[in-house]
Amino acid sequence: MDELTGVPHWDRASWPRTTERLTLRPAVDADAEAMFAYRSLPEVARWMTWQPPDLESWLAAFDKRRPYTATVLLGDELIGDLYLKTENAWSQTEVRDQAKDVSAEIGWCLAPEHEGRGYATEAVRDLLSFVFDGLGLRRVHAECFAVNEPSWRLMERLGMRREAHTVKDALHRDGRWYDGLTYALLAEEWRT
Ligand SMILES: CC(C)(COP(=O)(O)OP(=O)(O)OC[C@H]1O[C@@H](n2cnc3c(N)ncnc32)[C@H](O)[C@@H]1OP(=O)(O)O)[C@@H](O)C(=O)NCCC(=O)NCCS
Repeated sequence: MDELTGVPHWDRASWPRTTERLTLRPAVDADAEAMFAYRSLPEVARWMTWQPPDLESWLAAFDKRRPYTATVLLGDELIGDLYLKTENAWSQTEVRDQAKDVSAEIGWCLAPEHEGRGYATEAVRDLLSFVFDGLGLRRVHAECFAVNEPSWRLMERLGMRREAHTVKDALHRDGRWYDGLTYALLAEEWRT
């Protein structure tokens, strides 16, 4: 396997973590098929980076994805997944060491039959708690297509700040260029 960068230190918390209704834990290889079931649906893949064409391709790519993935369970059912990758902040050369692995990109995907009940909000809120209180990071950010309203509404429910609206900078597999949104949250904003 190529060397993976930005793999979170999942071991800085006890897993599984439980929220009011959900259980979260780092993904394991056995989660791959359940994730494929919803991620291969056109209505889900529409705004995701990749639409896996078949289970075989998904399984082949899974060992690179798994280290950045946490799964969301409702009872025993895997209903969604979360993405977390730590990153270096931009910095000037002299202070580069202090900017290493201090922030993260996060993402989410929920099986469509479980939308509309606040599960994504509940799961991502717990992920943020792990990021800020478990890993001690100082900032998270996430990006989405501007037309993906459920995704940016989720970020606003979580108190994330809209930081950028980019214009027609992202090429979709439908051949069109779309606007993008970036949201972010600082640890001190999370704590207040
Ligand atoms: C983005 C995505 C996770 C949002 O899902 P969602 O169901 O809208 O988000 P939640 O699970 O937090 O549910 C919130 C909705 O449930 C409602 N709700 C019901 N009970 C709730 C509760 N207890 N707490 C919060 N919201 C609740 C909210 O009002 C909201 O509905 P609204 O948008 O009509 O106001 C989902 O659409 C998805 O996975 N899409 C496909 C993949 C994708 O686009 N990923 C992001 C790529 S950038």
